Amino acid sequence: MASLDPVPLPPDREGRLRLGLPTRRATVRLGRRLARVLDVGDLLLLAGDLAAGKTFLTRALCRGLGVADQVRITSPSFALVHEYSGAPSAAAPAGLAIVHADLYRMGDAADVTSLGLRERRADALVVVEWGTGYAEALGGGGLELELVVEDAGRSASLWASQADQLARVVEAIGLGIGS
Ligand SMILES: Nc1ncnc2c1ncn2[C@@H]1O[C@H](COP(=O)(O)OP(=O)(O)O)[C@@H](O)[C@H]1O
Ligand SMILES: [Mg+2]
Repeated sequence: MASLDPVPLPPDREGRLRLGLPTRRATVRLGRRLARVLDVGDLLLLAGDLAAGKTFLTRALCRGLGVADQVRITSPSFALVHEYSGAPSAAAPAGLAIVHADLYRMGDAADVTSLGLRERRADALVVVEWGTGYAEALGGGGLELELVVEDAGRSASLWASQADQLARVVEAIGLGIGS
């Protein structure tokens, strides 16, 4: 039976942590587990081809953060930036703001700067599709996650410049932890 859980894989050529996501359910579980470790100030940079699952993963992350089921979580590819309200978190006792952006159509770092996403890290968790090329313009220190289409499902490669952040993420998505 195809796994419902993310499955650890050997690291990729760049030494990034890799997970197999054989089913959509495994992607949902990855998103929900990431919700345990992301809070105000964090930056999640999502990479991967069109239809790799970046918005799908963000939706699961948002549900894990407490965004109500009746709130539709859609691709911000037209509006560029969407915002959601999650449940209270350690750093946001009144409810966590989640800013979800898609930079596919962005021209350069100056355009990205003008969106003000870097400033939003003061009061929100910032999730950015097609954001890995703009890490510095977004304030640095992001968690990078690349989704790759595989024969069966997807795989995810993870990297963070801050070792402590990566360690927290690895623990949260590690196998043996219930979803
Ligand atoms: N592990 C998986 N196996 C198969 N399909 C998946 C998996 N994870 C996500 N998907 C599918 O990928 C599709 C495209 O996702 P989407 O989030 O729109 O892509 P992107 O935002 O990267 O362009 C979704 O409809 C979802 O069903
Ligand atoms: Mg998308």
